[in-house]
Amino acid sequence: MNMIKTNIEISDANLKESATLLNTLLADEFVLYTKTRNAHWNIQGPGFYELHKFFEDQYDELAGMIDEVAERVRQLGHFAIGTLKDFIAITRMSESNYEFSNQQQIVRTLLEDHETIIRILRRDAGQVSDKYKDMGTSDFMTGLMEKHEKMAWMLRAHLN
Ligand SMILES: [Fe+2]
Repeated sequence: MNMIKTNIEISDANLKESATLLNTLLADEFVLYTKTRNAHWNIQGPGFYELHKFFEDQYDELAGMIDEVAERVRQLGHFAIGTLKDFIAITRMSESNYEFSNQQQIVRTLLEDHETIIRILRRDAGQVSDKYKDMGTSDFMTGLMEKHEKMAWMLRAHLN
């Protein structure tokens, strides 16, 4: 496929590095999205409906974030990964089995995944601005990190 080259004063090599970090993040977000849907579908026990709705709010939010990440890759002149096979191959998230009778365990697993992504984003946001001079992507990653921080708070507040 042919593409018009980007001319935004970031070297081709640096654009490629930023795009690679974003595509890896895209895979992580997609796995977390699927795990959150799994929680929405299969949660049971007291307070079922509140948690069922809560997970729906969270996967809706993640769906929007996923779209932004993929489109950011395109803005840098690269192609976004778009197959489940590739997501699974490069993600840093694990598709651990939940114990679905244990609500606390499900919430805790999702919380740990958000915190993993927050740590990755903090590191990547620094790297793309310092090393690749890509302040736009750095700012984008920082904004995304703040969204995960809010989502992590909401999960944490469900734990005893
Ligand atoms: Fe549903």
